[in-house]
Amino acid sequence: MTVLSTPRLQIRPWRPGDRPALERMALDRDMMRYVTGGEPWSAERIDAFLEDQAAGYRQHGLAFGAVTHRARDRVIGLAGIQPLDSGAFELGWWIWKDHWGQGYATEAAAAVVAHARYALELDRLYAVIDPPNSASIRVAEKLGMVFEQRISARATRAERPDTSIVLYVVRFGGPGPAPTRRQPGAGGR
Ligand SMILES: CC(C)(COP(=O)(O)OP(=O)(O)OC[C@H]1O[C@@H](n2cnc3c(N)ncnc32)[C@H](O)[C@@H]1OP(=O)(O)O)[C@@H](O)C(=O)NCCC(=O)NCCS
Repeated sequence: MTVLSTPRLQIRPWRPGDRPALERMALDRDMMRYVTGGEPWSAERIDAFLEDQAAGYRQHGLAFGAVTHRARDRVIGLAGIQPLDSGAFELGWWIWKDHWGQGYATEAAAAVVAHARYALELDRLYAVIDPPNSASIRVAEKLGMVFEQRISARATRAERPDTSIVLYVVRFGGPGPAPTRRQPGAGGR
């Protein structure tokens, strides 16, 4: 299982003791504002998320992992990749609200991007973002991602099917298959 390290952070698989930290994020309206429209995740959704990420780590070596402070191993967010229906991968990030604005999302996601590019040899990553989520769009831009398209959320977001999402993409070229025009699908939001 891959553990990624940055100067301040680690991104690692979830452990049983991390559930309260994930719950705190997933039940918080500010955190979920642009994920579910503010609705908290159910206990079943949290269980399914943790199961999906454990499976993702087993299958791909990386998933949406727990972001921790290196010094204290305290969970402050999540970052990583998960497969889209198209076969491409989504790059995602959450940071607990007490820590916003300190560069943590960008730092964690940059390590994920480097691993996806050089270790997993993926050819591209997509960020799936609620259009008003300006902080998340800024993170995508700082990672070198560019706007690709705005699409209906019908296929990707059960909670708000009548809204739209914006896709940002980073393409690596080099090793790996050539980019295709396949449409990304459900990203778990
Ligand atoms: C989006 C999120 C991960 C950003 O985390 P973070 O650690 O604060 O991000 P960073 O500090 O790395 O970068 C944030 C950038 O957005 C900017 N920003 C913050 N709020 C902003 C706003 N309302 N409008 C425009 N830019 C904004 C910051 O200034 C910073 O850019 P800068 O470095 O150029 O100044 C965090 O807000 C979060 O977890 N939100 C809840 C979950 C979520 O929405 N996740 C994304 C789903 S796509």
